[in-house]
Amino acid sequence: MPDSSTDSARPRPASARRGAGLSGIAVVPGDKSVSHRALILGALTVGETRVTGLLEGADVLATAEAMRAFGAEVTRCGDGTWSIHGVGVGGLGEPEDVIDCGNSGTGVRLIMGMMATTPISATFTGDASLRRRPMGRILDPLRMFGAKHAGRQGGLLPMTLTGAADPVPVDYTLPIASAQVKSAVLLAGLNAPGETVVIEPVATRDHTERMLRGFGAQVTGEDLPEGRTIRLAGLPELAPCQITVPRDPSSAAFPVAAALIAEGSEITVPNISLNPTRAGFYEALSEMGADIERLNPREEGGEPMADLRVRHGALTGVEVPPERAASMIDEYPILAVLAAFAEGDTVMRGIGELRVKESDRIAATAAGLRANGVEVTEEEDGMIVHGRGGQVPGGGTVATHLDHRIAMSFLCLGLGTAKPVKVDDTAPIETSFPDFLELMAGLGAAITRDNG
Ligand code: S3P
Repeated sequence: MPDSSTDSARPRPASARRGAGLSGIAVVPGDKSVSHRALILGALTVGETRVTGLLEGADVLATAEAMRAFGAEVTRCGDGTWSIHGVGVGGLGEPEDVIDCGNSGTGVRLIMGMMATTPISATFTGDASLRRRPMGRILDPLRMFGAKHAGRQGGLLPMTLTGAADPVPVDYTLPIASAQVKSAVLLAGLNAPGETVVIEPVATRDHTERMLRGFGAQVTGEDLPEGRTIRLAGLPELAPCQITVPRDPSSAAFPVAAALIAEGSEITVPNISLNPTRAGFYEALSEMGADIERLNPREEGGEPMADLRVRHGALTGVEVPPERAASMIDEYPILAVLAAFAEGDTVMRGIGELRVKESDRIAATAAGLRANGVEVTEEEDGMIVHGRGGQVPGGGTVATHLDHRIAMSFLCLGLGTAKPVKVDDTAPIETSFPDFLELMAGLGAAITRDNG
């Protein structure tokens, strides 16, 4: 089993303090979203799909294990190189045991979508964080395909899903901006005859559409007045492919922010995808006046890429346009940390979705900043960080709430505060960035594990 049950892991506290500037090259891990999708589509494809650069974090390892439980042969061939022999669309077998998706909302929601149109049953669970997160958002469209579920009140895990025996394609308008829901619907649509249509009022990350095309499915996207309209032709025969997973722009956000925070820093972060559906954080940074150069801009595997050179410098508070939220949804905690060092207020609105992530990220971020002497105005679907113009007191302890991004964000905070910042648990970082502490140490960051 992967070490995904962050419930049972012993907390691993750590502290970060101000030190010399960071320097060097930060090679961040593979993209989490792309890694989950590569395993899932590989499992739905007859023949060998080979993946290089796979993120070997607990979330993705839980998905690999789940694909085995549904009948795929999934083999680790070497560092980040994996081979998948799938069962074909409609060929999934019924798992013999409960599927534990650990901490991963993406994993569980995409896998439920994947099996919702195959007449088998599977029971899903996850850690304490995942068991609090809403699944109703995918159950609504999956029921339209003919799937049925039984589980706890309020659409919470653990839950058993039974796939439709005679699935019908659906036409679904997303009520929230969610790539997970969009992807669950598209994956379910694979085994339904006819055309499945998803309309998203706000465009979200498009890795599922891109990868489905790579596997030979017929997927089109069109911008219409009602929103981005994605059409998938059901019952494709997927053709195996080679996938090179790009590096994760959401993981890159942490060393980038650390270099902006720690005085005297200059680092390079190579091979970062600047896919517009993911790059909102980097736009916000440029508006804040961050010193980031995009070196060697190019296109690789259909994704716009660049190497980022980042230097420490003064930042100015900004108002982040709410319509940008989907393209930087996972970066708000680290943006809020940067905003603490900026001159003036940073206003972030239209981010109510943050309340149902691995933790309530608005509450967790506001609490962490306040514990370190930064004033924050919290709103139901937003927050305003009152920047301290470089002088952040620190000295507080931050509660991680089983949330990897809260842990990494506040370790970055401590690299620039007057007093050290303590994070109560770094164990959840394993889900998305297993080598985070080693990578930061290599750049010269003063982060130490507490209690041994
Ligand atoms: C993801 C979509 C986002 C994001 C998550 C990964 C994905 O979630 O927060 O980390 O891979 O599709 P939502 O779809 O809930 O916005």
